Amino acid sequence: MPVLIRSTHSKSLPLLRLRRAAEILLRSIGRPDAELSILLVDDAEMARLNKLWLKRPYPTNVISFGQQGADFPQSENDLFGDIVISIDTARREAANAGMNLEQRLEALLVHGVVHLLGEDHELGPVEAERMTRKEQALLDALYKEKAMADLCINVDHVATVRQARGTTEPDPVTAAGIVEIAGADGIVVHLREDRRHIQDRDVKLLRQTVKTRLTLEMAATDEMIGIASDIKPDIVTLVPEGREELTTEGGLDVVNLEKYLSKAVTRLHDAGIPVSLFVDPEQNQIEAAKQTGADCIEIHTGLYADAPSSDIKEKEFEQIVIMARTAGDLGLRVHAGHGLNYRNTARLAAVSEIQEFSIGYAIVARAIFVGMERAVREMLSLVQKGYIE
Ligand code: PXP
Repeated sequence: MPVLIRSTHSKSLPLLRLRRAAEILLRSIGRPDAELSILLVDDAEMARLNKLWLKRPYPTNVISFGQQGADFPQSENDLFGDIVISIDTARREAANAGMNLEQRLEALLVHGVVHLLGEDHELGPVEAERMTRKEQALLDALYKEKAMADLCINVDHVATVRQARGTTEPDPVTAAGIVEIAGADGIVVHLREDRRHIQDRDVKLLRQTVKTRLTLEMAATDEMIGIASDIKPDIVTLVPEGREELTTEGGLDVVNLEKYLSKAVTRLHDAGIPVSLFVDPEQNQIEAAKQTGADCIEIHTGLYADAPSSDIKEKEFEQIVIMARTAGDLGLRVHAGHGLNYRNTARLAAVSEIQEFSIGYAIVARAIFVGMERAVREMLSLVQKGYIE
């Protein structure tokens, strides 16, 4: 395991995200397989380590120990070193700087990594400046990689308003044009069996007008596969569909429908259309999705978005992170969506394995007050910043 994180601190910490940041940093310095150990301690333990190894009896924010040189036995592995961070100090520094703990931990991790690369700001002003430059370059690389996700916008609910009066306005095709002008990476529509919002005409016109990418969400029925094969969206997302539901209520049961879905995937592939499966963040569903031959999964984020308590929200968040990584390791592209809004998206956008978000309702709802273009731009900035909670 190239990155090992241990914590002697009892409070819940963003360990998974810190490990991911460490992996990105190792990749950025060209040593993706190097072994790095990160130890998170309290101030008392930090003071003890400082006294023991560095002859200073007080806590500091971060210390690092290289694992190369004459003192260390030769190893077949690429040993990079150990970084120890005081959570108590990091927390205080984060509060003083007006940032969250995760951001401060990342900055301290970068500081430790640059020390392990041989830089030392205590040697003099020239060395200090060089170290700062290297830290900034690594932080830039880290945030760039963490904020890579695309934002695709679902315009179904523009059609919902139109259908409420059975007229021709507002037109989701016009909305899609504005969404693209605002900078979104794609347009998503769900053509439901009951045609409650998006109509066949919308999908046909969107195919002609969308300049970015068109995602067609649909059930894996003969009728829909026929329509998709004619219209040829850029990608199809297969979703479960219940007649009585207000919106999609959960992921596909790929484990039990594997054969059926495999056939649908093959037929869509035969028509030249890549396929994504909308699944709950569960390992067996993701493994089954891989078996169907699908190219991509979309992780259902509804349980995270609608969690009734912060504890459950935290658990659901970590589950999405682990499952995004599992899917990425299986070679699947990873999308995420459902129930995401202006308060819960930025955090997920820091999950570097998620390559695309599909968001609809919250943006259409906000557009009523601020206009579609601004609603899209505001969501784009959350997805691009990624790490702000
Ligand atoms: N992804 C899928 C598969 C969906 O069915 C929906 C809802 O149509 C969304 C994403 C978007 O969800 P929301 O409208 O809550 O943003």
